[in-house]
Amino acid sequence: MFAAVTAVSAQNASFHNAPADADAKAPPPLSPADVDAGKATYVQRCAACHGLNAKGVANIPSLATGPTQSAKPGEVFWYITKGDLSNGMPSWATTLTDEQRWQVVGYLKSLGGGGAAPAAAAPAAAPEAAKFDAPPPTAPFTDFRFEKPGLTRKVTLADLPKPFATESAGNPARMVPRPEGAWPQAPEGFKVQLYTTGLTNPRLIRTAPNGDFFVAETSKGEIHVFRGITADGKPQEDSVFATGLNKPFGIAFYPQGPNPKWVYIGNLDSVVRFPYKNGDLKATAAPEHIAGIPGGRGHTTRDVRFSLDGKKMWVSVGSGSNVDDPDTTPAEKDRADILEFNPDGSGRRIYAYGIRNCVGEEVNPKTGELWCSVNERDGLGDNLVPDYITSVKPGGFYGWPWWYMGGHQDPRHEGKHPELKDKVITPDVLLNPHNASLQMTFYEGKQFPAEYAGDIFAAEHGSWNRSARVGYEVIRVPLHGTGHATGEYQDFLTGFVLPSGQVWGRPVGVTVAHDGALLVTDDGTNSIWLVTYTGGGAKTGR
Ligand code: HEC
Repeated sequence: MFAAVTAVSAQNASFHNAPADADAKAPPPLSPADVDAGKATYVQRCAACHGLNAKGVANIPSLATGPTQSAKPGEVFWYITKGDLSNGMPSWATTLTDEQRWQVVGYLKSLGGGGAAPAAAAPAAAPEAAKFDAPPPTAPFTDFRFEKPGLTRKVTLADLPKPFATESAGNPARMVPRPEGAWPQAPEGFKVQLYTTGLTNPRLIRTAPNGDFFVAETSKGEIHVFRGITADGKPQEDSVFATGLNKPFGIAFYPQGPNPKWVYIGNLDSVVRFPYKNGDLKATAAPEHIAGIPGGRGHTTRDVRFSLDGKKMWVSVGSGSNVDDPDTTPAEKDRADILEFNPDGSGRRIYAYGIRNCVGEEVNPKTGELWCSVNERDGLGDNLVPDYITSVKPGGFYGWPWWYMGGHQDPRHEGKHPELKDKVITPDVLLNPHNASLQMTFYEGKQFPAEYAGDIFAAEHGSWNRSARVGYEVIRVPLHGTGHATGEYQDFLTGFVLPSGQVWGRPVGVTVAHDGALLVTDDGTNSIWLVTYTGGGAKTGR
C-alpha cells in the first residue's frame, strides 16, 4: 500500500516489511564497472517510472533520496526482486539476473542519499535490434505491433476474460532516445511536425481563449505558455507563466467565453487560481487558494473543468492505490471521485464516484455533460480491466475498487458491497486494458475533414501491466456528429514504440489550436507534436 511506505522509518522498521535476514546475503563486492552496469540497467528498466535522475516522477517515489537510501542494500535487493505489483512496482525476479539486481542496488546506493544530486544519467544503451515477438493478440485486444492510424476497435463487456486469465505483467516502458527516422504516424492526409522540444515533463495542455497554449510541466511545478504557430510549425513566443506550484496538472480558464478573469490550476492537493486576462504571458499575482483536495500518495493528476453554465467546477481526484478499500483505508476517502465545487471553492460534494483515475476531464460542448478519460486498475491480467472514456452521470458509480464494468466483482474484494453490484455503470467507450488513457478533448476545429467534427481525441500514455505493450498512441473516438459515442475508437497517432518493443515517446496531452491543428504533448521526448491536415501529400514533415 502507498500508505505503508510513508510509515517506514529508517531506524526501527524494515524497508517494506523486508524480512530480518534480508541483508544477511551481503552484496558481492561491486566494482565501479558494476555500478556503471547498474546505471545502464537503471536507465533502461527503471528510469521510465522513477525518472532519469532517480528522483521520482508524479506518484513514483524517489530512489536517490528517502527510504531507499536509508534501507540496507539487502532490503532494497529483496524488494526489487519481489516488487509490489498491486501498487505498480514490477517484480524483477525473472527480468533481471541476481547480478543485475545487485548492480542496480549498487548504483542506487552510489547516488549518495541525503538529497545529493546524482550524476547525470547516461543516454540509454544502444537499442536492442531484436524484434519483439510474441503470439499476435486476439481481437479486440491489441498491442503496439498492430496499432495503425485509422484502424477501428471496439471492446465490449462480452470480450472480458476472467480475472487472472493471464499473469499480471511487469512490463514498463523501456525508454530510448528517438532513433533517427522514428516519427509519429498519422492517417493519410495528415502531417506531423515537432512544434517544440526540451521541456521538462510536459503533461496537460490547454488552449486559452485567445489561442495561447498553456502546458503543465508537472514535475518542475511550472506552467508554460506557448504562442502562435509559425509557417514551419514552431512557436512564435514562449514564456513561463507560473512557478513554485505543487505538481500542477489541470488548467481551466474562467469564466468561459472570450474574456476570462482567472486561470485555475489543479495542484496535487489544492485548486488555486491566478488573475488572468487575454495575452498574459506571466502571472501578475500570487496564486489564490480556492479549495483543498486530497493529496498524498498515488495518482497525482487533478484536472479542473467548469460546467457550461459556469456554475460548477469539477475536479478529478484519482485513487491512492490500485486496490485499497476506502472503507478500511482512510487515505482513499474522497479519492477515485469527481469532486464538485462552486467556482469560489465552496459547496464541495461528490459528483461521481468509483472512477479509479479520471486523468482527463472535458465538458462535451454539444451536451454539456462532463466526460472522463480513465485509468482502470492493474494486477488482474493482460486483458483486464479496460481503461475507458465516458460521459459521467451525476451521482454515478463506476465500480472501483469493489466492482468493475458489467457487475464484475474484483476478486480482491470478494463478497464486499453486494448492494453496489447493479449500480456499476458501463462506460461509453471501453479501451484496451492498461492503455493509460490521459487527457482528452473534443475536436471543435475546422481544419480536419468534416467527419472529425465534434469527435474526441485522447492521449494513451501506454501500458506497464501488460505482457505486450499497448497504448502509446493518440486515439480518436468518432461521435458521428451526435455528441454520443458508439463504443468504437480508432488509432490516430502511433509509432512511439520500436519493433523491439522499446519506447521513445509517450503521449500525455491533447488540445486543438484555433486554426484547427492538434497539439500533443509527449513526456517521453519532452516535446509537443503538431498534427495538421494537408489533404494528402507528405505524412510527416521535419
Ligand atoms: C512501472 C513503473 C516502475 C518501474 C519500471 C520501476 N518501479 Fe520501482 N516503484 C514503482 C512504484 C509505483 C513504487 C511505489 C510502490 C508503493 O507505493 O508501494 C516503486 C517503488 C520502488 C522502491 C521503493 C521506494 C520507496 O521509497 O519505498 C524501490 C527501491 C524501487 N521501486 C526500485 C526500482 C528499481 C531498481 C527499478 C528498476 C529495476 C524499478 N523500481 C522500476 C514503479 C516502478
